[in-house]
Amino acid sequence: MRLNIHMDKKSVLFVCLGNICRSPAAEAIFLDLINNEGINDQFLVDSAGTGSWHVGKKADSRMRFTANKRDINIASIARQISKEDFEKFNYIVAMDNSNYKNILNLKNSVGASDFARVYKIQDFANKFTEREVPDPYFGGDDGFHYVLDILEDSVSGFLREIT
Ligand code: 4NP
Repeated sequence: MRLNIHMDKKSVLFVCLGNICRSPAAEAIFLDLINNEGINDQFLVDSAGTGSWHVGKKADSRMRFTANKRDINIASIARQISKEDFEKFNYIVAMDNSNYKNILNLKNSVGASDFARVYKIQDFANKFTEREVPDPYFGGDDGFHYVLDILEDSVSGFLREIT
């Protein structure tokens, strides 16, 4: 008998700086893909920020609005990454090099376990050569579309890699 029904699930945590733009979008795109493929019961998906400024807030309204135009619903509430995430998630996926470094620094400073594998999402891109997901927060609307364009590519590449 299986006591823990989550044992077989793969768990993924997408991480950016504020957890209000890029990682909520990556999370929503991943959820959309696995829902469409009917494999959503095989995954636990979440997102978090390395920073704490926006904890408790909905995703940025510009990100939600731009995603809605593509029929992608962003429902996440911002939270900060913590030590426990390194034990809970199989994959922790950073949006840019700075996030990646901050995640590894946090892991070392709190002495978190080696359970989670830490990646950068653009390492799974197929069409786009961009090595990082640019931070759209201080830019215009185009930046939000561009983030979604490159995440649709790299998040689907990541899903293919882990299934
Ligand atoms: P995110 O974007 O890391 O993609 O959520 C940002 C959101 C807020 C800030 C920076 C980046 N900020 O400086 O408040």
